[in-house]
Amino acid sequence: MRASLITLVTLSLALLSVAEPLLSPINVHEKRNSIPRGWSLTRRHDTASVLPLRFALKQRNIEDIGTYLYDISHPKSPNYGQHWTAGEISRKFAPSDESLSAVQDWLIENGMERERIKVSPTKGWIQVDATVEEAERLMNTEYNVYTHQTGQEHVACEAYHLPEHISPHVDFVLPSVHFDAKLTRRSGDDGRASNIGQPGVGIKPKTTGAVTETVSEIEQCNEYITPVCLRALYGLEYEPVATEKNSYGIVEYTPEAYLKSDLEMFAMNYSQDLLGKEPYQISIDGGYQQMEYQGFDYNGEPDLDLQYGMTLVTGKQQVTLYQAGDMVEGASFNNFLDAIDGTYCTFEGGDDYTQDSKYPDYSPGGYAGPEDCGTVKPAYVISTSYGYDEADLTPFYAERQCAEYAKLGLMGVTILYSSGDDGVAGNDDYCLNPNGTQTADGTMFDPSFPGTCPYVTSVGATMMKPNASVYDAQPEMACMEVIYSGGGFSNYFAMPEYQKEAVDYYLQTYPPDYPATMWNSTGMSRAFPDIAANGANYVVAVDGEFELVYGTSCSSPVSGAIFTMINDARLAVGKGPIGFINPTIYSAEFAGLFNDITEGTNPGCGTDGFNATIGWDPVTGLGTPNFPKLLAKWLTLP
Ligand SMILES: *[C@@H]1O[C@H](CO)[C@@H](O)[C@H](O)[C@H]1NC(C)=O
Ligand SMILES: *[C@@H]1O[C@H](CO)[C@@H](O)[C@H](O)[C@H]1NC(C)=O
Ligand SMILES: *[C@@H]1O[C@H](CO)[C@@H](O)[C@H](O)[C@H]1NC(C)=O
Ligand SMILES: *[C@@H]1O[C@H](CO)[C@@H](O)[C@H](O)[C@H]1NC(C)=O
Ligand SMILES: *[C@@H]1O[C@H](CO)[C@@H](O)[C@H](O)[C@H]1NC(C)=O
Repeated sequence: MRASLITLVTLSLALLSVAEPLLSPINVHEKRNSIPRGWSLTRRHDTASVLPLRFALKQRNIEDIGTYLYDISHPKSPNYGQHWTAGEISRKFAPSDESLSAVQDWLIENGMERERIKVSPTKGWIQVDATVEEAERLMNTEYNVYTHQTGQEHVACEAYHLPEHISPHVDFVLPSVHFDAKLTRRSGDDGRASNIGQPGVGIKPKTTGAVTETVSEIEQCNEYITPVCLRALYGLEYEPVATEKNSYGIVEYTPEAYLKSDLEMFAMNYSQDLLGKEPYQISIDGGYQQMEYQGFDYNGEPDLDLQYGMTLVTGKQQVTLYQAGDMVEGASFNNFLDAIDGTYCTFEGGDDYTQDSKYPDYSPGGYAGPEDCGTVKPAYVISTSYGYDEADLTPFYAERQCAEYAKLGLMGVTILYSSGDDGVAGNDDYCLNPNGTQTADGTMFDPSFPGTCPYVTSVGATMMKPNASVYDAQPEMACMEVIYSGGGFSNYFAMPEYQKEAVDYYLQTYPPDYPATMWNSTGMSRAFPDIAANGANYVVAVDGEFELVYGTSCSSPVSGAIFTMINDARLAVGKGPIGFINPTIYSAEFAGLFNDITEGTNPGCGTDGFNATIGWDPVTGLGTPNFPKLLAKWLTLP
C-alpha cells in the first residue's frame, strides 16, 4: 500500500464531508492525523478566552513563484542575477483585494466588528482577536488545551472548517491544528533545554565530551576538525575585500544562546583575528542572549555556528546573528520569516529596532505603504541549523513557509538548512507509520523540513575517512560517526526541474531496493540534501572547555561561510550575490565543482538507508564544496 499524508488527509476530508451533510457549504480546511509526540489533550479551552486568530491569506501568483525564481537563478537564463526588491515581491504576491475583502466581509457577517479586524503590512495576514466561543462557531471547531510532557501548554484543535467561498482565499488559520509551538523551559528541570516542538529538537549538535589534548596540527584532522582542516579540505584560502557590501546571517532560537567567553576562547586557539569581535545582533520577537541557563543544550549550537561561521569568513567580515524568540514564548521559523518578509517593510531606513517584541506589527495604520519596503535587507547568505520533520507540519503550512524561502531567493538570498542528523529517519530516530503518525518503531522514512522545500539548499554531513589525510584525493565519506546525514525524498513537495537529471540518474543507476511502502519511490518528489560538508569531530569551545561536536549543524554554517566568500569576490567586481544556488549548482556548467562523496550510507528506520554514490545521492547530495573551482566558475556568471 502506498500511503501518503496528503492522501490520508484528503481521504479523511472526504469522509468527514460525507459524514456531515448538514454542513455542506462548509468544508474541512485542515485536519491533523494525530497529536504530535510528547503532547496530550488536557481539556476543552475556556469559551471566554481570547485567541489571536490569524488567517494566512492566499497569495496572488504564488503558484508561479518557482518559475520566477528559476528565471533569475538559472545560469543560462538571460535574467540570471536580476534579483527583485522587497517591494516588487510584496506587489507581486500580495493577496488580491478580493481575498482580503472576502475574508473581512465573512468575519463581519459573523459578528466581528470592523475595528477588530487588522491587516498585516504585506497584506498576507488578517488578525482578529476572537473569543474561543466566537472562533469555534466561525470555523465549526473545538479548541482544546494540550499539555507537553515538559508542562508547556498549547491551544489547538483537531480540524476546522471554512465556508466554500472562503477556503480558496485562505492558506490556513492560526492557532488551529498546528503545533509549531513555542515552548518555554520546564521550571526546575535538570538543565536540559526543553524546547521540544520548537524547531531544533533533533537537529541539535551532539557531543562526545571534552577534548583532552592540544589540537592545532593539520595532521590531526581525521580525529579533530578545526578551521585549518576545513580550509584545507575545501580550498578556502581567501581574504575578503568587499566586506562593507557583503553580509552573512546565522539564525538562533532562544533559549539557545552563544557565550561571548566561548567565542573568545575559540579565537585564542584558532582564530586570533576574531579576538574582541562579536556578531551584529538583530533581535526578532524579543530574542536575546540569555545567560541564565547554560550547558551544551543551550550554548552548543550557537557557539558552534558562530565560532566556525565567523572564523571562516575572517574577522574582517561582520556576521549578523538573528536571535529569534524570548524566554517566555520562544519562536518558530515563521517569526523569523515574518520579520524579514513583513515587518522589515515597516521600518523606513531603520536598522535600529533592537527591542521589537511584536512581530508582525499589526498596529493600525502602522504601514503607510512606502514605495519600496525592505529597507533592512536580509543577509545575502542565511544559515539555520534547526529543523522539523516534514510530517510535523500540514502540507498547507509547509508550502506557505516554503514559498517564503522562495521570496528570499528572489531577493538574492542563499538559504541553507542542515538536512538532519538521523539518516533516513526523522528527528530523534522516529519514523513514519502508514497512518501518518511518527513513532520509534515506524517503518517509513521520515524526511526533514525545511530541507525538503525545493527553494532552500539542504546541507548533509560528511566525515574524514578513518586514517585519511586532508591531502588525500578523496579524504571524506558520508558521516557515520555519532550522527548520520539526513537525506531522502519528500512526501509533500514535487521534484524541482533543476535536480531532475541528477536524481533520475541516481534512481536509474542505483535503484534503491526498498519497497515503495517505505519511501517516496515515485521519482517525482523533491530529493535532498543538495550538498554536504564535514560534520564530525569539530573542536568547539562550549561553556569554557573544548568539546568534540557532531552534526549537520556543523555543515550548514561552514557551507554558508564558503558561499559568503564567493559573494565577496563577486561584489568586489561589481556583480550581485549568488542568491538561490540550486539551479546553478545542479547545472551542467557546474558539474565536477563539488567533491563527489562516494562512500558511506545514512541508516535509519531499521535499514542501512541510501548509499553515497558517484554523482548526486540522497546522503551527501552533489558533494562538498571545492572553493577555488566554485569561485572561478561563479565569477564567469553575470
Ligand atoms: C588551546 O590553547 C591552550 C594554550 O595554548 C592549550 O593549552 C590548549 O591545549 C589548547 N586547546 C586545544 C583543544 O587545543
Ligand atoms: C497509527 O499507527 C501506529 C502504528 O501502526 C499505531 O501505533 C497508532 O496507534 C496509530 N495511531 C492512530 C491515531 O491511528
Ligand atoms: C588506522 O591506523 C591505525 C594505526 O596505524 C591502524 O591500527 C588502523 O587499522 C587503521 N585503520 C584503517 C581503517 O585503516
Ligand atoms: C510522493 O511525492 C509526490 C510529489 O511530492 C506526492 O504527490 C506523493 O503523494 C508522494 N507519495 C507518497 C507515498 O508520499
Ligand atoms: C547500497 O550498496 C550495497 C552494496 O553495493 C547494496 O547491497 C545495497 O542494495 C545498496 N542500497 C541501496 C539502498 O541502494
